[in-house]
Amino acid sequence: MSADAGVNLELLLNLDDVEDAARTAMPRVVYNYVAGGAADEITVRWNRERFSDYRLRQRVLRDLSALDCSTTLLGRRMPLPLLLAPTAGHCFTHPRGELATAEAAGAMGVTFGLSSGTHTSIEDVMKVAKAPIWYQLYVVKDRGVTRDLVERVQAAGAEAICVTVDSPLDGARYRQQRLPMALPPGVTYPHLAGSREPSSIQTLDTVIPANLTWKDVEWLRSICRVPLLLKGVMSGEDAAQGIGSGADGIMVSNHGGRCLDTLPSTIEVLPEVVAAVAGKVPVIVDGGVRRGTDIVKALALGAAAVQIGRPYVYGLAIGGAAGVEHVIRILRKELLMAMCLLGCAKISDIDHRVLWDRKA
Ligand SMILES: Cc1cc2nc3c(=O)[nH]c(=O)nc-3n(C[C@H](O)[C@H](O)[C@H](O)COP(=O)(O)O)c2cc1C
Repeated sequence: MSADAGVNLELLLNLDDVEDAARTAMPRVVYNYVAGGAADEITVRWNRERFSDYRLRQRVLRDLSALDCSTTLLGRRMPLPLLLAPTAGHCFTHPRGELATAEAAGAMGVTFGLSSGTHTSIEDVMKVAKAPIWYQLYVVKDRGVTRDLVERVQAAGAEAICVTVDSPLDGARYRQQRLPMALPPGVTYPHLAGSREPSSIQTLDTVIPANLTWKDVEWLRSICRVPLLLKGVMSGEDAAQGIGSGADGIMVSNHGGRCLDTLPSTIEVLPEVVAAVAGKVPVIVDGGVRRGTDIVKALALGAAAVQIGRPYVYGLAIGGAAGVEHVIRILRKELLMAMCLLGCAKISDIDHRVLWDRKA
């Protein structure tokens, strides 16, 4: 299969291969925007590295004749415990932007979290969507604007809303600031008119007035007809308070290390959040997930599903919809391989017992 950037996807065996190909194919400014993180990018590195602290515990000779990696999340059956995390600005990466991403997600039956910083309106995305679309919300100072947006995305068919709570501002993204990006001609932010411009550097003056607090979570819960998830929770206390404020799901995320550097990796924080949530709502984790074994480890530590951000954006860059699909296929195949080799025939077989000694 040959993709738009002239890359033979079949030769890209894992997500590192995909990133390498994307680094070569993408303009440097765009690659830096996607790959970069906050400050010294230590959290970006930890997100990836900490997965290898966990070793796996193999069981043999189990019946794997009905191997199946499908699962249920918030009442919806999914082919695998994976979602595409909301990432802003897909037209920086590919001319078809979010349309291509939505087509790939639909082809694989995977839920796609549409960012508030989308370059394509949710109404247009819904025209091509064949799998659930979730909407990622940034709350802005004018709550009337936020209310209208919530109404609009629900009317368009968003099946869940995840409000991002970890980034009142972008953080010290030096790599991005040194090489700022320009919007491609004709490309806009159709959901951000008059609110937040993700391509500009947010200053304290522009964001503090938004002053998102727990009261807003309760308010959002009262105006949402669909499940409301909190994205960017990094402590058990906040997770418990989120549930108390009405959240239907918790996303453990440090924004892919793009906001506050030296936050711990998400896989380290996950057990604390899972303990605080105590099974009341699903916990989803993102940050550094690059292997099927990473998915297994996250589930073993109590996550209901994982999300990926950068990897599918790299897939989009090198192959449009086919590239995104390829990334999902790689993870699906690796997950099934890992399950098979661990002796887990189904997702519910994956629990703490697949971790050897829990932590290395
Ligand atoms: C290019 C890019 C843009 C992003 N834009 C958003 C966004 O608009 N809203 C949001 O909540 N998270 C955003 N994120 C964070 C992702 O949702 C997710 O938390 C993160 O990418 C997961 O880490 P990973 O890239 O290591 O998989 C963005 C991430 C990237 C890489």
